[in-house]
Amino acid sequence: MESLKKLFQPVHEKVDETWSKVTIVGVGQVGMAAAFSMLTQNVTNNIALVDMMADKLKGEMMDLQHGSAFMRNAKIQSSTDYSITAGSKICVVTAGVRQREGESRLDLVQRNTDVLKQIIPQLIKYSPDTILVIASNPVDILTYVTWKISGLPKHRVIGSGTNLDSARFRYLLSDRLGIATTSCHGYIIGEHGDSSVPVWSAVNIAGVRLSDLNNQIGTDDDPENWKELHENVVKSAYEVIKLKGYTSWAIGLSLAQIVRAILTNANSVHAVSTYLKGEHGIEDEVFLSLPCVLSHCGVSDVIRQPLTELEVAQLRKSAKVMAKVQNDIKF
Ligand code: NAI
Ligand code: 2OP
Repeated sequence: MESLKKLFQPVHEKVDETWSKVTIVGVGQVGMAAAFSMLTQNVTNNIALVDMMADKLKGEMMDLQHGSAFMRNAKIQSSTDYSITAGSKICVVTAGVRQREGESRLDLVQRNTDVLKQIIPQLIKYSPDTILVIASNPVDILTYVTWKISGLPKHRVIGSGTNLDSARFRYLLSDRLGIATTSCHGYIIGEHGDSSVPVWSAVNIAGVRLSDLNNQIGTDDDPENWKELHENVVKSAYEVIKLKGYTSWAIGLSLAQIVRAILTNANSVHAVSTYLKGEHGIEDEVFLSLPCVLSHCGVSDVIRQPLTELEVAQLRKSAKVMAKVQNDIKF
């Protein structure tokens, strides 16, 4: 254009900066909450959105682009064609069906496996060095499915896992104790959802373990009924789904935290779903959550928490549930 020649004196060709590029597949409630969290928290300024619903995809992209003036130099692209995902450092998968009221996460397994079979090879084709972060449910099983389909090493396939359950747990602790959520420390491990395991032995405030103050904490015999907090964590997704139809904001924030930890090489610890055969006596090839160190390589370490016998037994039970469901999946 003639007018541009008048405006610019070229000095050097522009560089296409992609080191922090993040792809999000699925622009539904979860994908958009994740995109919004990442862009507004400056986790990345370079997002590619993919979905199979072209109009919705374009509408979501335009709506975000119109917010560019309030973000930091954001580049937001979208297409139904996976070529726009090329060079992504991380690909977050939120595509697929979600539970309807009364359905469990495990009810979705075959439908969402079929969705992943379409998506994962495309992501690897355009970003062979990428790290995959899975959120679609049932997340632990679909992380295993993704690991199988992708052929990637286990440190580069991560499920959002119980980072969300742990956040819900810490919120409920905070509510009961009147202490900020960020000062309530505790982990939910195992399956994201119904058979998740609260690590009561490690719950602490400023290093003071609640189990040292109440040695029945989390058991049926506890007169203070702390167990109720974990029951409420398990129930909470069902309750939110019943009330508003889906869950979105908390998982969006959780995904943003996981992506930030990887992009910034943070070496921070998060409960995410990872390959657990051999840990805590687990015999099957399953993905479940334990606290993991996240860095540029994905998962660099699994933290070996000294669990109680009961916690180990619950974790192994979760692993058996996962293995049983995995056996019936049709790849
Ligand atoms: P949604 O229905 O709002 O969005 C799903 C999107 O996936 C839709 O836009 C749809 O067009 C897209 N999609 C479906 N098949 C596709 C394909 N083959 N290729 C590309 N895009 C495709 O669902 P929502 O609420 O966003 O949930 C998404 C998933 O996340 C569900 O499986 C849900 O259970 C799960 N979820 C997981 C959480 C976690 O903690 N891991 C928390 C909340 C939801
Ligand atoms: C959640 O826990 C439903 O897995 C989803 O919010």
